[in-house]
Amino acid sequence: MTAAAPPWALLAELTHACPLRCGYCSNPVELAGRSAELSTGQWSEVFRQAGDLGVVHTHLSGGEPLLRRDLPDLVAAAGGAGLYTQLVTSGVGLGERRLAALTGAGLRSVQLSVQHADPVAAERIAGARSFAAKKRAARLVRAAGLPLGLNVVLHHGNLDALDDLVRLALDWGADRIELANTQYHGWAARNRAALLPTPDQTERARTRVARWRERLGDALELVWVAADLVDTTAKPCMGGWGAVSLTVAPDGTVLPCPAAGALPGLEPPNVKDRELAWIWRESKAFNAFRGEAWMPEPCRGCALRTVDHGGCRCQAHALTGDPARTDPACRHAPDHPLVHALVHGPAAHRPAYAYREGGP
Ligand code: FES
Repeated sequence: MTAAAPPWALLAELTHACPLRCGYCSNPVELAGRSAELSTGQWSEVFRQAGDLGVVHTHLSGGEPLLRRDLPDLVAAAGGAGLYTQLVTSGVGLGERRLAALTGAGLRSVQLSVQHADPVAAERIAGARSFAAKKRAARLVRAAGLPLGLNVVLHHGNLDALDDLVRLALDWGADRIELANTQYHGWAARNRAALLPTPDQTERARTRVARWRERLGDALELVWVAADLVDTTAKPCMGGWGAVSLTVAPDGTVLPCPAAGALPGLEPPNVKDRELAWIWRESKAFNAFRGEAWMPEPCRGCALRTVDHGGCRCQAHALTGDPARTDPACRHAPDHPLVHALVHGPAAHRPAYAYREGGP
């Protein structure tokens, strides 16, 4: 077992409920119900323990965190524990009064999801009316003087609109736009055939990002999160297993990454049973793939293991059934032909998105 340095980030999934139904949603297929969510007091205790453990930054996320009526109390509790608070939101439900309550409670920044620069395409991806609410939310956040980031999950349906997405970020006054290629976990795995881009699409978008970076300099931060299935390299998922961040799900389950609840044999701990410090340092779940001792060949002898940390365990599980195998995204992986077949397989039939029915 490797001695664990303290985490610096906490993803607090306050609820799985959400007004959107995005096909790329990487939350689990089976969502936690509202009655299973941690209470205000339990979340406040999570934030206190996180601060004691060394966490400095929390993403207040979901689902849609604005559906928690106690959100200002949670922001205040996280801030009181010494955490920098960022709201990760669809923008639906972020009116003037709500934002004032959140800024009054000490909210430090907002990350707004955007599906497309074209309203019709955006709402087709989201499976819900939402574009006007997002535009309004962006205006209110800027008027409140908070830093604004946009988060775009990229896939076949919006990669070719990359230029328009960057222009939209400039138009809405964002400081940052995160262009994150889809991860095929949870619900998104059901939509893989609809979402998976062609290698050409991805390459064009990557080139455009480089050009925009040259043109814009510091005016807008562009973050490109690699499309690893297409790139033939393994991504340094989560910055390494149990290395920099932890996720607390709505019901208090604590995970090394948001998708890890689907992995077999992990025995994920819960904040209702254990202190966060024990969970981080001692639990089976957080030590399962920490460090390098678990790595099979060819990872074990590969110089890139210190860069990609063995890739993504959830992806290895999704594609091979075994989370301990080399991430098939890597071109050196014994299972890489699986990925090659997906990426270069017949793309003639693009199914429509499968949307979630109802909500938790
Ligand atoms: Fe879980 Fe990559 S998403 S390890």
